[in-house]
Amino acid sequence: MYQMISGTDLMVSRIVYGCMTLPTEPRAALTALHTALDCGITMFDHADVYQRGAAETMFARIWRDEPGLRERIVLQSKCGIRQAGDPVAHAPKRYDLSRDHILQAVEGSLRRLATDHLDILVLHRPDPLVEPDEVAEAFTRLAAAGKVRHFGVSNHSAAQIALLQRAIGMPLVVNQLQFSVLHSHLVNAGIITNQTDPPHAVRGDGTLEYCRLHDITIQAWSPLARGQVSGGLAADADARTRHTATLVAELAAQHRVSPEAIVLAWVLHHPARMQAVIGTTDPARIAACVAALGVTLSREEWYLLFTTGRGAEIR
Ligand SMILES: NC(=O)c1ccc[n+]([C@@H]2O[C@H](COP(=O)([O-])OP(=O)(O)OC[C@H]3O[C@@H](n4cnc5c(N)ncnc54)[C@H](OP(=O)(O)O)[C@@H]3O)[C@@H](O)[C@H]2O)c1
Repeated sequence: MYQMISGTDLMVSRIVYGCMTLPTEPRAALTALHTALDCGITMFDHADVYQRGAAETMFARIWRDEPGLRERIVLQSKCGIRQAGDPVAHAPKRYDLSRDHILQAVEGSLRRLATDHLDILVLHRPDPLVEPDEVAEAFTRLAAAGKVRHFGVSNHSAAQIALLQRAIGMPLVVNQLQFSVLHSHLVNAGIITNQTDPPHAVRGDGTLEYCRLHDITIQAWSPLARGQVSGGLAADADARTRHTATLVAELAAQHRVSPEAIVLAWVLHHPARMQAVIGTTDPARIAACVAALGVTLSREEWYLLFTTGRGAEIR
C-alpha cells in the first residue's frame, strides 16, 4: 500500500489521488477526498492550472474537516503551463519554466491550498525555452524559504531530465508520465528493437530505464485510461480498446475484483514500482482502485493485457 519516494523521507500511498477534475460542488469534492483518505490514500496531486486554480482552492476546504491532516498527507502540485490570455490578451497557451514564473506559480498554489509548503513541486511539461540555471535558482530559493521540500518533473524524457539535473543541486525525485494498458509507450519503447510495425507512436525511448537507474519514482497519470476499458467504453471505440475491455472484464471475473482493480494492477505490477495517479471522483470507483493493491497478476496475464492494449502481439 505504501512506499518511500527515493531521495526523500516521504512515505506515500502507491495510489495517489489526482485533483485535476475535483468537483466544483463542495459536497461532491469533499466526499471524494474523504473516500480517498478513508481508503488509505495519503498523497494528493494538484496543478496550478487544474480548473484554473479552483481545484486547489476547493481542496483547501478539507483542512476544516480534518485538523492536523496537513502533517499526515503528502501534497504535490505542478507549475509551468500558462493559459492563453495570461497575462495579456494576445498571449498563447504555452509552457513557462522561467525562474520568475516558477516562483510566482508556487506562491499562488500555496495561497490557494492554504498551506505553507508543498512536499513536492513538479514541472508540468518540458519548456523548449527552459534555462536549467534559472530552474535551479528558483528551486534553491523555494527550498531555502521552506516553501518546497522536494522537486520533480512530468512528461519529461530521460535527456530532458539529465539536462535539468546537471544544473539543479537537489535530486529530481518523480517523473509523472501517461501510462496505462491503452497507453503503454513507456514499456513499448523498450521492446521494439526487431519489430517492423510498432502499432502506435513510441516516444520517450529510455525514459523508463533512466528513471529506474536514477531512482526517480514514475507516477502514472491517467492509469485507468479514463475508464475506457473498465466500464466506460465509448460507442465509437476502436478494436484494440474493445478487445482490452473484454479481457479486463474476464480477468476481473476470474480474480473476483472490479475491472478498475485489474487495470491498475497492471500498472502497479511493473517492477519500476510506479505510483498510479487516479482521477475518478466516484467514491465506489476510488475504493475499487485501491483494491488493485490486493491483486497479483501472473506474468502471462500481464503480457496478455499489454499486447491486447497495444493492439499487436509481440514478436
Ligand atoms: N502530468 C500530467 O500531464 C497529467 C495529465 C493528466 C492527468 N494528470 C493527473 O492524473 C490524474 C488522473 O488523470 P485522469 O483523470 O485522466 O485519469 P484516470 O484515473 O485514468 O481517469 C479518470 C476519469 O475517467 C472516468 N472514468 C473512470 N472509470 C469510468 C467508467 N467506468 N465509466 C465512465 N467514466 C469513468 C472518471 O470519471 P468519474 O469521476 O465519473 O469516475 C474520470 O473522469 C489527474 O487528476 C491529474 O492529477 C496529470
